[in-house]
Amino acid sequence: MIQRPRGTRDFLPDDMEKRRYYEGLLRNVAKTYGFREIATPIFEESELFILRSGPNVLGELYAFKDKGDREIALRPEMTAPAIRMFVNEMSNDPKPIKMFYFGQCFRYERPQSGRYREFFQFGAELIGNPNVESDAEVISMAGAMIRSFGLKDYKIRIGHIGVLRQKVSDSGVPKERMAEVLQKLDKKNYDEATPLLKSMGVTDDAIRDLYDLTETVGGPEVLSKVPGEAGDYLRRLVELLRVMGVEDPEIDLGVVRGLDYYTGMVFEAEAPALGAEKQICGGGSYTLSELFGGEKVFSTGFAVGFDRILLAAEKEGQTYEKEGIDAYVVPVSDDVRLESAKIVTMLRDEGLRSDIDIMGRKMAKAMKYASITGAKNVIIIGAKELESCSVTVRDMVSGEQKVIKIENLIEELKSRQ
Ligand code: HAM
Repeated sequence: MIQRPRGTRDFLPDDMEKRRYYEGLLRNVAKTYGFREIATPIFEESELFILRSGPNVLGELYAFKDKGDREIALRPEMTAPAIRMFVNEMSNDPKPIKMFYFGQCFRYERPQSGRYREFFQFGAELIGNPNVESDAEVISMAGAMIRSFGLKDYKIRIGHIGVLRQKVSDSGVPKERMAEVLQKLDKKNYDEATPLLKSMGVTDDAIRDLYDLTETVGGPEVLSKVPGEAGDYLRRLVELLRVMGVEDPEIDLGVVRGLDYYTGMVFEAEAPALGAEKQICGGGSYTLSELFGGEKVFSTGFAVGFDRILLAAEKEGQTYEKEGIDAYVVPVSDDVRLESAKIVTMLRDEGLRSDIDIMGRKMAKAMKYASITGAKNVIIIGAKELESCSVTVRDMVSGEQKVIKIENLIEELKSRQ
């Protein structure tokens, strides 16, 4: 038997129905924030991701040469494609440009719970201004998305990669080794960071200073320790967020993010119930357009890990009730099949979700099937009832059964929706 590739999943009808429902919640939130949907190709020229995504993502690229000898990669994320599209197609559009997207991304990672090789992101990019309002807009929207899932146990952490980069650079780390150091600091992996920094000639005092910064974690009050413009910026951001539905974000100047393109504010949301892969959302402000041949414009955005936020909702005990169908039509005998097909078509034309037995099952088995598929009503069509232009309708919840004129059937079923 051929199996699906490692790190991928099949989604059965029950899964897809649930996923579409939750996707719809995110879509609604994005629209209420004035974002509009875009779509970009699933594969791009590898260079798009190589230019700035950083060592984490590069090592995980699904890249190959196509038949025309082009270097192609499956997208590991959608920010670079969105900005490439902006540079190609939308650079003269009035700003801000607010776009959102939903789709699969591919990373060659070691699969585990909440970490897949094919996974889904729901993300948003705001292209326009490097100001507090833009950052507040996206963090607030991320918060609203998490709340729309009904999640209770989650935390939003906000940092500033600009401050951290400056500190690393001031400590004497050469520019080309910045990413390597940040990667260690990202995991607060000081045991590995210390020898690495020392090998670059960074002094003990400077290392201590650096760790002081990455350990600046807590409520907004810790911002008093953040000097200069960045501190003011984050204070104004927190103030704005407070009136925009994100009341108690954690400040964490150790938030590094796995991608290299961020320049200012960075943020992450985590759901502790998920354990190791608890990050359900990540984002920040960045500039990428100039790298792709456009003018330099400031952007900010985030992506929700759709699979993870779903897992988090499940872990919190949320259940999803299957939609089911309005009616399952069962012809009692072969001589009523034509009339049954007519009736099911009439129901479908009215927008009622309807199905018809095509297996020629006996009544008891047909009822069982209807119940498994979540039919709310079964329409039993018999020759005798048809003579008086009627059918029997069985309410699958109460078990109640009554004979109804066909002309009243639609009204009856709609009243039961
Ligand atoms: P990211 O943090 O690399 O950021 O990914 C965003 C989210 O995707 C993560 O927080 C996580 O929930 C989910 N995710 C990442 N890798 C996997 C995986 N292997 N399996 C399941 N879920 C995963 C970005 O991709 C940026 N483009 C976000 C952004 C948008 N920044 C600015 N704009």
